Amino acid sequence: MTAPAPPYETLAPVYDTVLGDRAFCRILRAFERIERRYGLVFRSAADVGCGTGTFVAHLRARGVHPVWGVDRSPHMLARALVKNDGNGARFLLQDLRTLRLPHQVALLTCQFDTLNYLLTPPELRTALAAFAHAVEPGGHAVFDMVTRTGEGGGQRVGEAWVRRVRVLRHGPRGTPYETHVQRAYTLAEIGAALAGSGLQLRGAHRVGETRPEAGTARVIFLARRP
Ligand SMILES: C[S@@+](CC[C@H](N)C(=O)[O-])C[C@H]1O[C@@H](n2cnc3c(N)ncnc32)[C@H](O)[C@@H]1O
Repeated sequence: MTAPAPPYETLAPVYDTVLGDRAFCRILRAFERIERRYGLVFRSAADVGCGTGTFVAHLRARGVHPVWGVDRSPHMLARALVKNDGNGARFLLQDLRTLRLPHQVALLTCQFDTLNYLLTPPELRTALAAFAHAVEPGGHAVFDMVTRTGEGGGQRVGEAWVRRVRVLRHGPRGTPYETHVQRAYTLAEIGAALAGSGLQLRGAHRVGETRPEAGTARVIFLARRP
């Protein structure tokens, strides 16, 4: 039996069509609401878990410079490079738990489930501490997560509380392109991971779909480096 392809290898060429382009409208709306509400001002940015680089391209089109895109998937980054060809954005192949930017940035974003790929609270704590190091004093991190609101928010597997996300071909009954394992954290777990990370929580707001029957809700967080 052959081993399954690493996450996003099969998906990368079709990601924008089957998922990314539709999600981008929601991601942008949620981000802009936070930006307006909290009066965010930033000259430099990094989008961590940038995938195919759509948000990076958006920031560059707004004149933000420099903008870094960071992802651990070479297949997603290859798409991001093509999309951002010639616009001055820079890309790094890195795991966000060991994030190292060449310069600190005023804004760090991490959107559309990226942090849900971390399956244990210590990993989430490590990632948020890495974000704090990457953000300049007074700068902000904006990240969204699928949060666990009830019993349906996943299945206990050993120490982890995980959910399997199937990205399907041709609708709900199709065969999967890929099945991803994520963890839906409770707000308490996210608060505990933020404490001591070097970031201070400024706001948490529900966005997009809240699925009480599935025991999950998507929440966008704004945190500041003092
Ligand atoms: C659902 S996609 C979101 C992509 C993009 N942010 C968007 O909104 O379309 C999640 C991305 O996070 C990346 N990712 C997941 N875990 C990561 C990690 N530990 N370090 C870096 N990137 C990661 C994946 O490779 C993938 O590109």
